[in-house]
Amino acid sequence: MPSRSRLAAGTAPSPSDLDAEAGFARDVAEGLASHPRTLPCRYFYDARGSELFEEITRLPEYYPTVVETGILRACLPEFARSLGGGPAVLVEFGSGSSLKTELLLAAVPGIVRYIPIDVSASALAAAAARLAHRFPALDVRPVVGDFTQATAISLHAEGLARIGFFPGSTIGNFAPDEAIGLLSAFRTTLSPKGRLLIGADLKKDLSVLVPAYDDAAGVTAAFNLNLLARINRELGGNFDLTRFRHLIRYDEKKGRVEMHLESTCDQVVTVRGQSYRFRTGDTIHTENSHKFSIDEFRALGRKAGWQPRHVWTDERALFSVHDFVD
Ligand code: AVJ
Repeated sequence: MPSRSRLAAGTAPSPSDLDAEAGFARDVAEGLASHPRTLPCRYFYDARGSELFEEITRLPEYYPTVVETGILRACLPEFARSLGGGPAVLVEFGSGSSLKTELLLAAVPGIVRYIPIDVSASALAAAAARLAHRFPALDVRPVVGDFTQATAISLHAEGLARIGFFPGSTIGNFAPDEAIGLLSAFRTTLSPKGRLLIGADLKKDLSVLVPAYDDAAGVTAAFNLNLLARINRELGGNFDLTRFRHLIRYDEKKGRVEMHLESTCDQVVTVRGQSYRFRTGDTIHTENSHKFSIDEFRALGRKAGWQPRHVWTDERALFSVHDFVD
């Protein structure tokens, strides 16, 4: 069934929108019925969630974006020299992070073609238009697809060196086994002889880590709660956002920041005719953000068949950017 928001906007949903909505409905039903309750973090990024994430990246407490950007500014000339200057294609997994991509394209003049891969056709179109405008000589070829699956790009990349780019430490959202699978899929997409420039957030003192996910202005809380608002909007749920609170935990053993939404009272919530009972203190686990040591991350790359070539970090060792070769 088409969502209310699209009907209100008077736009007919496309078949792929309907597939996406069915997938969202199924994942929500499954996640809310499971114990512990979970929701996949990829659903944070509707239009409002993407806006809130952009706002997070500008928060004083959220160090990853500014620190990774600084590392890239410093390391890209060296990375460019190591490529040897031949023609190359840049494959970006997900199409967010405009500034970082622009830094990379500006630093590596050999990149003649840019292939962003993203499930969201609208996000792709926006990213492609922006980059094409900024770099008029660049051949931009967006691919709509799920970057967690190996993607056929060979028709777009014949005779070109292949560079993959996955900044932001989005890899941290995946459990170690999934992360290895994802890194392997990247290797397949970029084969033969690909290269991967990938950001990985580092383990650090909790006095720095926790505020990055629990900021004073409450933007991360709003980002987390927007998932419930999205369920209300798109699936006709009746979550009362004042009756859930944003909760952060650090799991020392797993080395990950967890985001949860905690019920502040006993309540029953209904989504698509299905009722879910929450007691005070019950949580929905909405995100994992794994943190690595440099050695741990290099070991993860090796398990996926990559050879870690080089790694760059900042002065405070908050974040790392890895250069992997096949
Ligand atoms: C986009 C996955 C890298 O884990 O730091 C930010 C998402 N969640 N604040 C992260 C996020 C809460 C972010 N990544």
